[in-house]
Amino acid sequence: MNYFKQKVLTIAGSDCSGGAGIQADLKTYTALGCYGMSVITAITAQNTTGVFDVMAVPLSTIESQLHAIFSDISNVNIIKIGMIYDKDIINLVSDILNQNEFFDKKSNKKIVLDPVMIAKSGSSLFKDDALNSLKTQLIPMSFLVTPNFDEAIAISEYSISSNEKIDENIIFQMGKKILSLGCENVLMKGGHIFFNEGDCVDYLINNNMNSPSDMISFRSKRIDTQNTHGTGCTLSSAIASFLAAGYDVSHAIEKGKEFVTNGLINAQYESIGQGHGPLNHCFGLK
Ligand SMILES: Nc1ncnc2c1ncn2[C@@H]1O[C@H](COP(=O)(O)OP(=O)(O)OP(=O)(O)O)[C@@H](O)[C@H]1O
Ligand SMILES: [Mg+2]
Repeated sequence: MNYFKQKVLTIAGSDCSGGAGIQADLKTYTALGCYGMSVITAITAQNTTGVFDVMAVPLSTIESQLHAIFSDISNVNIIKIGMIYDKDIINLVSDILNQNEFFDKKSNKKIVLDPVMIAKSGSSLFKDDALNSLKTQLIPMSFLVTPNFDEAIAISEYSISSNEKIDENIIFQMGKKILSLGCENVLMKGGHIFFNEGDCVDYLINNNMNSPSDMISFRSKRIDTQNTHGTGCTLSSAIASFLAAGYDVSHAIEKGKEFVTNGLINAQYESIGQGHGPLNHCFGLK
C-alpha cells in the first residue's frame, strides 16, 4: 500500500477503551498501510462491558473538523462513516459531503456507511429520531452500506415474526429494501446470523441481483471467542482501506473480512477488560 496516497477518513464516535469507533478505524487504516484521518461526531465513555456516557460533539465543531480536512488535504476520496448519533449530525455531515461531491456516483469518491445503532454490549449509540435522516440523507449517497442483522431490520422495516425461520431469502429481501433507498451496494453482515451452522457469512447485494442465489457470500469459520468488540467498525474501515487501494467492492470485502477473521483469531484467548474484548488489529505488525 502507498501510505500517503491511500488517504482514508473516518467520521465516527470515539471509544475510549480503544476497541471500536475511531480508535479501531485508525488502527485498521494504519495496519493496512493507509493514511488515516478522523472527524469525531460523539465522545463515548465505554469499555468492554458497556457504554456509560455519550456526548455529541457540537455541530460547529464537527463542521470545522470537516472544513479543516477538505480545505487543506486533497484527494480524500474514501470515507467511512460510523457512529453518527442524531439527525442534526446526519443532516450536517450529508450537506458537507454533498458540497464535496460525494453525491456523484460516477466520481471516484466513495462512502462506506456502517449504520452503527447498538453497541455489542446492547447500549444504544443512535437516537430514534435519526433513522429517517439516515435513510433519506446518508444511505442514498453511499457506495456501500454495512448493516448487521438488527440494523438491517430497523432500516428495511422488515417485520419478522417470532417463529419465522431466518434464511437467505429474508436476507435478500431486507438487502433489496435497503438498496431501494438509493445506495449502490449492501453488505448484510453475518455476526448475528446463525443459520450457517459453524460459519459466519456476510452477503453482498446490488441492483444487478435478482434472487438470493445471485448474492455474493463471504464465508469464514465462526471464531469461538467473546473478544468481538469492534468487529463491525473494523470490517467497514478495512473495506474502506482496500477500496482506497483500488480493489473493487467484492475484493475489498473479501480482503476486509479476512483482516477481521485474522484479528479475531489473534485475540481469541486474550483478555483486555472483563466483557467483549477487542480483536487484534495489529497482528501483522512487528
Ligand atoms: N465470532 C466471529 N467469528 C468470525 N467472524 C465474525 C465473528 N463475529 C463477527 N464476525 C464477522 O465480523 C464482521 C462484523 O460483523 P457483525 O455482524 O459482528 O457486525 P456488528 O454487529 O456491526 O459488530 P459491532 O458490534 O462491532 O458493531 C462480519 O464480517 C462478521 O462475519
Ligand atoms: Mg456495528
